[in-house]
Amino acid sequence: MARKYSIEGGIRLEGEITVRGAKNAVTKEMVAALLAPGVSTLRNVPEIGDVEITKRVIESVGCVVKHDMAAGTVTIDATTLAGPEVPEEYSGLNRIPILLAGALLHRFGRAVIPAPGGCDIGARPLDFHLQGFERLGAKVEHRDGAYHFSAERLTGARITLPFPSVGATENLMMAAVLARGTTEIRNAAVEPEIVDLALLLQSMGAIIVQETDRTWVIQGVDALRPADHRVVNDRIEAASFAASAVATRGEVYIRGADQLHLLTFLNWLRRAGGEYEVRPDGIVFSGRDSKLKAVAAETAVHPGLMTDWQQPLVILLTQAEGMSVIHETVYENRFGYTEALNRMGARIQLFSECLGGSECRFRHLGHKHSAVILGPTPLQGADIEIPDLRAGFSYLVAAALAKGRTTLSGVRYIERGYDRVVEKFKALGLPIEVIEG
Ligand code: EPZ
Repeated sequence: MARKYSIEGGIRLEGEITVRGAKNAVTKEMVAALLAPGVSTLRNVPEIGDVEITKRVIESVGCVVKHDMAAGTVTIDATTLAGPEVPEEYSGLNRIPILLAGALLHRFGRAVIPAPGGCDIGARPLDFHLQGFERLGAKVEHRDGAYHFSAERLTGARITLPFPSVGATENLMMAAVLARGTTEIRNAAVEPEIVDLALLLQSMGAIIVQETDRTWVIQGVDALRPADHRVVNDRIEAASFAASAVATRGEVYIRGADQLHLLTFLNWLRRAGGEYEVRPDGIVFSGRDSKLKAVAAETAVHPGLMTDWQQPLVILLTQAEGMSVIHETVYENRFGYTEALNRMGARIQLFSECLGGSECRFRHLGHKHSAVILGPTPLQGADIEIPDLRAGFSYLVAAALAKGRTTLSGVRYIERGYDRVVEKFKALGLPIEVIEG
C-alpha cells in the first residue's frame, strides 16, 4: 500500500510558511551544471521528489551529486561525466532527461535519451525540441524507445518555435551556449524560471541576450565554468498557498513570495476578492473579510495567468459567489481533476469550446479545455486518487475546506513538486496525517 494523507477539514489556514526554490528552475539548473567540468553549487534547493529524480538521472551519466537537505544546497561535479546514454529506467519519471541532450552532445558528440514522462495533462510531444536540434545541425532519430542525437559540433541557427514552449526553450538554450556561432530562439518562452536558467548560464560564462520580443540571442562560447547560484523562489508554490489561505478564509504570511513574479496572479486574486499585503520579505494573503467573486480568466504563457496557477484558482472559485469561467490555453487536458472536486460537492462543468476569452490552439479539437464553476459550494470529504502534481495540491485545499475526512492516495505526485508540504500545512493548522504504505 502506498503512502496516503488523511485530512480532517473545515478549517481556516492561518500562520506563516517560507517558499523555497522553484521545482521548474532547479531541475533544469542541475542539468545545466553538466555543461562545465568542475563543481557547481545550487542554493535554496527544495526538498522535492523531482530533485531526487534529477539527481539520479545526472548521476546515471557519471556526475557526482551531493544534496545537503538541511542547508538546501546541491553540488554537482560534472568532471566525471562518463557517457552519452541516459539509461532506460529513467524513462517516464519526469520531463528532465530530454534536457540532457545538449550537454551530452557537446561532451560526447552523441546522446541517447529515453522518452520522458511527467504529469498526464496532454499529449506533451517533443517535436519543437527535436526540430530545434536538427536546426542546430544534429541528426536526430527515434528508435527502440529512445531519442538518438549525434553531431560533431552544434552550429548556431535561427529557430522559431511554433509555440513558446518552456522545455524547448530551455533545451535549445542549453544546447546553443556551446554551439559554434550565434543562435536566435524566436517565439521563445520567457518564464522567470527560464530567466533564472539564463542567469546561471551567464554566471557560467555564456553570452545570452534577452530581446524584447520573445527572442533569446545566444552567442556560443568554447567552454563554460562552474558557478554558484541561488535558485529563484517557487511562484507556483507561493500562489498555491496564497489561494489556499483566501479560499479557506484564513490568513497566511508567505515568506519568499515575490511580487515581481506574482504580478499577474495578484491581479486575478484581487479580482476574485482576495486580499494581500506586500511586505519586504514576502506577502500576507487573507480571505478573512473577503467576499469572493466569480471571474472569467484564461491561462497563457508568461506574463499571462500560468497554467500551474489554474488549479488553486479553481478551488478558490468554488467558494466564490456566481459563475466563473476558466479557459485553459496551454495544455489541452488539464481539467480532469475537477471530476473528483464535483464528487466533493463542487459544481464544475467542462466544455470543448473556447469560453470566456479568445480562441486558442485547441478550438475545434474536442478537448474539454474550458471550465465553468458555479459557486459557492460547500465541500464534503471523500477518498481521492491524485492524478497529477497540481491537481494533488488543489485536493489538499479542497480537503481543508471540506466537512469531514478526506483521504488522498497517490501523494507521491504532490511530493514530487511541493517542498515539505505536510510540514507546511501542519504549520498552517491543517489536521493532516500521513499514513505510511
Ligand atoms: C513546463 O512544462 C513545466 N514543467 C510545466 O509544469 C508547466 O505547466 C509548463 O512548462 C508551462 O508553463 C517543467 O518545467 C518540468 P511546454 P513543459 O513545453 O516544458 C506543447 C508542473 O506541474 N509542446 O511549455 O513540458 C505542449 O504540448 C508542470 O510543474 C509541443 O506541442 O511545457 C503544451 O501544449 C506541469 N511540442 C505547450 O506546448 C513540444 O515539443 C507548452 O508546453 C513542446 C511543447
